[in-house]
Amino acid sequence: MAKPKTFYACQSCGYRAPKWLGKCPDCNEWNTFAEERLERATSVRGELSLGTKEDPAPIHEINTAEEGRLQCGIGEFDRVLGGGLVPGSVILIGGDPGIGKSTLLLQAFAAISQKGLTCLYVSGEESPRQIKMRAERLGIVAPNLLVLSETSLERIIEHVKHIQPGLLVIDSIQTIFSPTIPSAPGSIAQVRESSGSIIVLAKKTGLTTFLIGHVTKDGAIAGPRLLEHMVDTVLYFEGERGHSFRVLRAVKNRFGSTNEIGVFEMKEAGLKEVSNPSEIFLMERPLQVPGSAVVCSIEGTRPILIELQALVSRSFLAVPRRTTIGVDHNRVALLVAVLEKKMGAKLFDQDIFVNVAGGVHVDEPAVDLGIVAAIASSSRENVLDPKTVFFGEVGLAGEIRGISQAESRIKEAGKLGFERCILPASNSAQLEHIKNPKLTGVSSLNDCWKVMF
Ligand code: TYD
Ligand code: MG
Repeated sequence: MAKPKTFYACQSCGYRAPKWLGKCPDCNEWNTFAEERLERATSVRGELSLGTKEDPAPIHEINTAEEGRLQCGIGEFDRVLGGGLVPGSVILIGGDPGIGKSTLLLQAFAAISQKGLTCLYVSGEESPRQIKMRAERLGIVAPNLLVLSETSLERIIEHVKHIQPGLLVIDSIQTIFSPTIPSAPGSIAQVRESSGSIIVLAKKTGLTTFLIGHVTKDGAIAGPRLLEHMVDTVLYFEGERGHSFRVLRAVKNRFGSTNEIGVFEMKEAGLKEVSNPSEIFLMERPLQVPGSAVVCSIEGTRPILIELQALVSRSFLAVPRRTTIGVDHNRVALLVAVLEKKMGAKLFDQDIFVNVAGGVHVDEPAVDLGIVAAIASSSRENVLDPKTVFFGEVGLAGEIRGISQAESRIKEAGKLGFERCILPASNSAQLEHIKNPKLTGVSSLNDCWKVMF
């Protein structure tokens, strides 16, 4: 018998090499190569393949009447999806273990199945009994929600063809395997093959499908990068350990805006949507304490007020610490350098910690001014006015640059009772009609210092 041909595949990115390698030349990960067999028996995907029955058609003759979106009734979830589920789409949800992916989908599916649609929940991780126990905890009564505990790709496909559900969830894609592929469950080859087959099945039958994916230690979805290209929507479910807030974020969406977020709170009886996140994020804010600044960041289409905290204290290390949670580390380093150079702040021997309260992440340049204000406030031990909101991008020359969607940020601040906004002068010049909150335009850090304390 001829020896089967093998190759080595990087389990992190899918790179193939004829020999074992210690370090992947493609993604630079160490120790990720595993042997896989080359021969591929007739794959399930082959028999499912889309088949091109359709002829090419002139673009103006293509029917674009949008099929009705399916709302599950959980407002935050629907918004992240761009206003509801598009029939036939495939959605990938990634997140850390225990963050609440299974809980979220079970709740969403229960809500949808109440509308009379058959939903199939396939779990490769939990037994039907465990899922039932969770459903009881969540208070779910849903006769149209079918539960299946299965890891074999072939049998899942058989069940789907037989039951013909309207909605399918695979929890999780890393546990599904096909015996036609020689590598172990969870390996790149298995994930590629099983997700590929399920996506083809979904596209062919118009079945709306959710795939739950594990994430690697860097936070990317485990498995081939290709997976994210094959699906229509990629969502990440995030949250800090020890915080009950969870943020559902769209990073790719063929049917809606990306960077849209949905905020949830994990409670005793499951996830509750938080429809006014600003209020929650500011709830425990200490007033009259140096180092706390409120910023307004746009997340997707929605402005959210967030508290930024900074602590500046004398360092006893040769290289002082710069620690950030929730904001980009490099951004803070850059702003500290601007503060030193332009404002004469003496920070070279100070440890600086910057934290976004509530466990959220912000990565918008518009929060720059807030970071600078919080650091300056802590270093000078001066309290910032608790009724003031900051936003604006800070440039390397110490200039404050205009930002987008200033008006909706100001409105959100006004709604929550803030009395003043310190914002880029170029933005405030266009918004002179707004009287409440009071707008203070600044064009440089120097200007800002005059009005801040
Ligand atoms: P789970 O959905 O199993 O996470 P994942 O599928 O992402 O791994 O969530 C499990 C966590 O959520 C667990 O630590 C307990 C917590 N939890 C609650 O706090 N309340 C609840 O009602 C439920 C169902 C879970
Ligand atoms: Mg789970």
